[in-house]
Amino acid sequence: MNPLPQDVLAPPAKSAIFLVLTVRDGDEAADTVRGVLGDVAALVRSVGFRIPEAQLSCVAGVGSVLWDRLYPAAKRPLHLRPFTPLTGAKHAAPSTPGDLLFHIRSSRQDTCFELSRQLMARLGSVADAVFEIQGFRYYDERDLLGFVDGTENPGGAIAVDTVFVGDEDPEYAGSSYVIVQKYLHDLEAWGALTVEQQQLAIGRTKSDDIELPDDVKPANSHVVVNSIVEADGTERRIVRENMPFGSAAAGEFGTLFCGYAADPAITELMLHRMFIGEPAGNHDRILDFSTAVTGCSFFVPTATFLEDSAG
Ligand code: HEM
Repeated sequence: MNPLPQDVLAPPAKSAIFLVLTVRDGDEAADTVRGVLGDVAALVRSVGFRIPEAQLSCVAGVGSVLWDRLYPAAKRPLHLRPFTPLTGAKHAAPSTPGDLLFHIRSSRQDTCFELSRQLMARLGSVADAVFEIQGFRYYDERDLLGFVDGTENPGGAIAVDTVFVGDEDPEYAGSSYVIVQKYLHDLEAWGALTVEQQQLAIGRTKSDDIELPDDVKPANSHVVVNSIVEADGTERRIVRENMPFGSAAAGEFGTLFCGYAADPAITELMLHRMFIGEPAGNHDRILDFSTAVTGCSFFVPTATFLEDSAG
């Protein structure tokens, strides 16, 4: 039987919680975490079965350093490595601590919360939260910059090919890689732009979400920077699961970037083009209004691997 992948391609969620944790030293901590990872699917059933319409799901990711502690006897996944920080002429993408990621999605915030509570009840004594983001769907799939976010995500069979490891690392077929970054927006500066200037920064129209014509889209627009087509015409894609988050009282407005790929090099290349620029200096205009404050990279083993390796 083929290994069962985790729910990477879950339906678009109205609510999400991203939990990034570090795991304390010691074998006991590692044993506990291995056990919890093996139980994630069961916990999702316990919390979600009572409210099937909520479509609760959870993807667990393991960072590079923790992997060697949890699964020392297993082969290392081909592309597992820590998040590489980037420093461009104007903007930087920091690499920040993160051993474990839980990406919880649902159409209801209560089920996301309840699953995060159950996970932390099991992990609280061996792991520390680096950050928790409670993301929400904002109007018609818009980010807090006011643009529809996710339109050009691949779907169907292309999405499956985009996110799941295949023959290049047969032992881990059905696994995936995910990079998450927390961005904070300067909405005052963004709001001072005209709608036309905002559209040129993104590369799409704001109200109708139509891609601007090629001769209008600037080279530093977000869409142009992140459209990568090889010489043979192959498009290099990722599947994004961005979520807006914020607190009006704290004046904090952000986007949690979450990108899944079969090979993290594709996401890394996009980040290189955004922060360093291709050619160097052509940084993504979105960064003049959005600051990356965290950056972590994780391997997403199959659900089968997590259960079989729980010990
Ligand atoms: C497209 C927002 C960060 C990769 C888009 C679009 C928006 C958007 C509004 C256009 C609609 C769509 O196709 O989804 C944001 C925001 C970000 C962010 C608010 C954080 C502040 C990133 C990062 C990456 C990325 C870090 C890659 C590492 C892409 C890609 C597309 C896209 C591949 C589709 C381009 C195309 O083929 O048209 N993003 N994004 N985005 N973004 Fe982002």
